[in-house]
Amino acid sequence: MKIAHISDIHIDNPVFPDRMTQFEELLVNIFDLDYDHVIITGDITDAASEKDMEQLKDMFERNGFMDWKKMTIIPGNHDLFGKYEFNPERVVNNAVNASGVNSLRKLKIFCEIFRELMTPDNYANYYFPFVKIFDGPNENLAIVAFNSVFEFSLANNPIGSRGYIREEEMKAMLEKDILELLNGKFVISISHHGYNVLKAKTPYEQAYVWTMELTNRDTYVDTLKKINAKIALHGHVHKTEVYKVNGIVFMNAGAFKRSRSIINSITINPDHTFEQTFIKYHERVTA
Ligand SMILES: [Fe+2]
Repeated sequence: MKIAHISDIHIDNPVFPDRMTQFEELLVNIFDLDYDHVIITGDITDAASEKDMEQLKDMFERNGFMDWKKMTIIPGNHDLFGKYEFNPERVVNNAVNASGVNSLRKLKIFCEIFRELMTPDNYANYYFPFVKIFDGPNENLAIVAFNSVFEFSLANNPIGSRGYIREEEMKAMLEKDILELLNGKFVISISHHGYNVLKAKTPYEQAYVWTMELTNRDTYVDTLKKINAKIALHGHVHKTEVYKVNGIVFMNAGAFKRSRSIINSITINPDHTFEQTFIKYHERVTA
């Protein structure tokens, strides 16, 4: 099974009017190249604009991509909170936008717009965590999706970009029925935030790492071990990277925002070995 993983698209019309077209071209390319599934690990929008999300949905529908078997999407901090830089004039407004109640409301809006990419259930009203099972011919795969967007907290998340996966989400994945479902599958876990940010050498970098990190990343890794996940996909830090934590291979797809054509390309073989490479497209493969 061939999986294309992309991240951090940061669509923002009309500020970056070309980005939507370029993103559409990339997706068309990906499906022309016989990928079986596309995973987008968050920050598909830049400013949490519902209008942008609706336009993305229209584009997916126009191309026949709006199908949970073809694509999986999860939100990033930008999809729920928007451009959340530290700005004293905006800090109160930002805090309100990213507060617990509002972050849940925004999460619901995101999930409802992209529902068909998460679940085939038209009446779903709760979304995370979710599991997709692929068990067709030559498929034996499970995608496990967590929401890692952490609500605003003056003490713990003052600029809205730290990550947190709720304990309930991780516990839910350890239920007996779920473990049975995952048994024997090649398990890929996805979240917006990953394990690594960067190796901080200066106090400034340390502060940056603090604002970007997945706060409960070690509990996340413990959970991944328990569900026998082989791969953990993420974005958030705009840097392509593959690294191992406790035997689990983490892959950061980097940012479409930076490189319009980057794909984290993963091939999973029937014997559950896998190959991974970052590839780039500069033009459409077919006219
Ligand atoms: Fe992010």
